[in-house]
Amino acid sequence: MTMDDGRRVTWSKASLIVTAIFLLSLSSSASVAAHGRSSKRFVRSYDEPCKKMRLYLHDILYDYSNSTANSTAAAVTKPTALSTAVSKSGYFFGRVVVFNDPVTEGKALPPALEETAVRAQGLYLYDNKEDYTAWLAFSVVFNSTAHRGTLNLIGADPLAEKTRDISVVGGTGDFFMARGVATIRTDAIEGFKYFRLQMDINLYECYV
Ligand SMILES: *[C@@H]1O[C@H](CO)[C@@H](O)[C@H](O)[C@H]1NC(C)=O
Ligand SMILES: *[C@@H]1O[C@H](CO)[C@@H](O)[C@H](O)[C@H]1NC(C)=O
Ligand SMILES: *[C@@H]1O[C@H](CO)[C@@H](O)[C@H](O)[C@H]1NC(C)=O
Repeated sequence: MTMDDGRRVTWSKASLIVTAIFLLSLSSSASVAAHGRSSKRFVRSYDEPCKKMRLYLHDILYDYSNSTANSTAAAVTKPTALSTAVSKSGYFFGRVVVFNDPVTEGKALPPALEETAVRAQGLYLYDNKEDYTAWLAFSVVFNSTAHRGTLNLIGADPLAEKTRDISVVGGTGDFFMARGVATIRTDAIEGFKYFRLQMDINLYECYV
C-alpha cells in the first residue's frame, strides 16, 4: 500500500462519517416534521400494505321528501342543460353533490348521523353522458381515540363496476405522509336516496 492509498482510505473514512452525520441530521429533522412520530418507523412497501382498514360510508341525499336531519348529502347543481338534452332518463352529467357523511366500522347506520368520530367530507360529480359514472374527491376525517388525522382520497368511480380503485393521495396527523389505494364497493343502495360504500383502504406508505 502506497502512502497515497493510505491517504485515500483515511479520506473516504472521513467522508463516510460526514455522510453519516448528514443522514442523522436529516432523519431527526424528518421526525420533527412528523410531530412526535420519532418512535414510529416510516414503511414503504408496494407488495404488502403497511396498514389496512375496512370502513363503511353512508350517504343520504336530501331529496325534498325526507327530513333535513336525516340527510348528509346535497346536490349543489340544477340538472344541466347537457344532461337533460342527451338522454331522457338522465345520467346526471355535470351534477355535483357535496357530502359530510358518517363513516362506521360496521354496516349499520349510526344512531346520530352527525356525531360519528369518522366522517367523509367532500364531493362527487357525475361525469358521463351515457352511463352512471362519477368522480370522487374527499377526506376521511378521523377524530376518535384510535386515530386523529385525515386521509385524502380521489379518483374515478365507474358505478357499474363491482369494485373501483381510487387513490389515497396523502394524509395528515396519524396518517402523516400516507399513500395507498382504496377499493370501494357499493354495499347497499336505495334508489337515489341512500347508498353505503364499503371502503377497503390499503396504505402502502405509512408510519407504523
Ligand atoms: C326518510 O326515508 C325513510 C325511507 O327512505 C323513511 O323510512 C323515513 O320515515 C323518512 N323520514 C322522514 C322524516 O320522512
Ligand atoms: C373531536 O372529538 C372531541 C371529543 O369527542 C370533540 O370535543 C371535538 O369537538 C371533536 N372535533 C371535531 C373537529 O369534530
Ligand atoms: C334515514 O334515511 C335512511 C336512508 O333512506 C333510512 O334508511 C333511514 O330509515 C332513515 N332514518 C330515519 C330516522 O328517518
